[in-house]
Amino acid sequence: MWTRARTNRSRSDLAAVAEEAAASGCPAVRLAGLSKDYGTGPATVHALRDVSLEVWPGEFVVLLGPSGSGKTTLLNLVGGIEKPSAGRIEVAGTDIAGLDEKARTAYRRARVGFVFQFFNLVPTLTALENVAILAELTGPDAGEHSRAALASVGIVQAADRFPGQMSGGQQQRVAIARAIVKEPPLLLCDEPTGSLDLDTGRQVLGVLRALAMEGHHTVLLVTHNSAIARMADRVVWLRSGTISREERVAAPLKAEDLRW
Ligand SMILES: Nc1ncnc2c1ncn2[C@@H]1O[C@H](COP(=O)(O)OP(=O)(O)O)[C@@H](O)[C@H]1O
Ligand SMILES: [Mg+2]
Repeated sequence: MWTRARTNRSRSDLAAVAEEAAASGCPAVRLAGLSKDYGTGPATVHALRDVSLEVWPGEFVVLLGPSGSGKTTLLNLVGGIEKPSAGRIEVAGTDIAGLDEKARTAYRRARVGFVFQFFNLVPTLTALENVAILAELTGPDAGEHSRAALASVGIVQAADRFPGQMSGGQQQRVAIARAIVKEPPLLLCDEPTGSLDLDTGRQVLGVLRALAMEGHHTVLLVTHNSAIARMADRVVWLRSGTISREERVAAPLKAEDLRW
């Protein structure tokens, strides 16, 4: 259920996949009545309130909302970094909210790739080592797999460089390679272009879009930048911890055509 053949699909194929998945009744992610509170008593912050959402395999979904609307909280819940206060989080049909700590860690390591605003690379490791070591790859094929991941984000030529010898966009591509090297079905991106200039940001978004199109990853991308929403298959607006609106994008733009 978790792995699918890596194929290049057109958008109409994508729609077909989504329909097929819908027919089989198993979304990539299904949130039902999801709530998350921080703190207790009068100081309680309701970061998410009764959120329900379904995301289909291969979909590229942008979660849009102002600062403090609950975007990071939602991503951290789906990624198994945090536990919800109430509600269900089904990933490919399994409720991960109910997993114990150990199972949640195993889920996170095997099934989820994270990409953050700040690339979180280790400065004393090369690009290749950042992919292989931080993804905890072991065995004789670790280098080869890491190199392939770097190649799939177009940066294999920088495999032996240190983060300090790379541009921000290159570092973010290394971070994406690290996130996808184990081929997790879910790719969770929190403001991945937040510290990149426009051109570099578009390149990184193009890489993420291609990964979703190739059919291996469902992408949930969080941003406060509404321009980015135009390249999504679907946009979900968050406001004060609730979904205020949801819209399918009829003709998503290519990342290179985005302007902000
Ligand atoms: N660990 C935490 N402890 C207390 N409050 C938090 C914590 N994480 C987030 N919050 C609060 O939850 C709300 C949603 O935060 P967040 O999900 O980070 O929003 P966004 O990513 O949209 O900016 C905010 O009011 C924030 O201050
Ligand atoms: Mg955030």
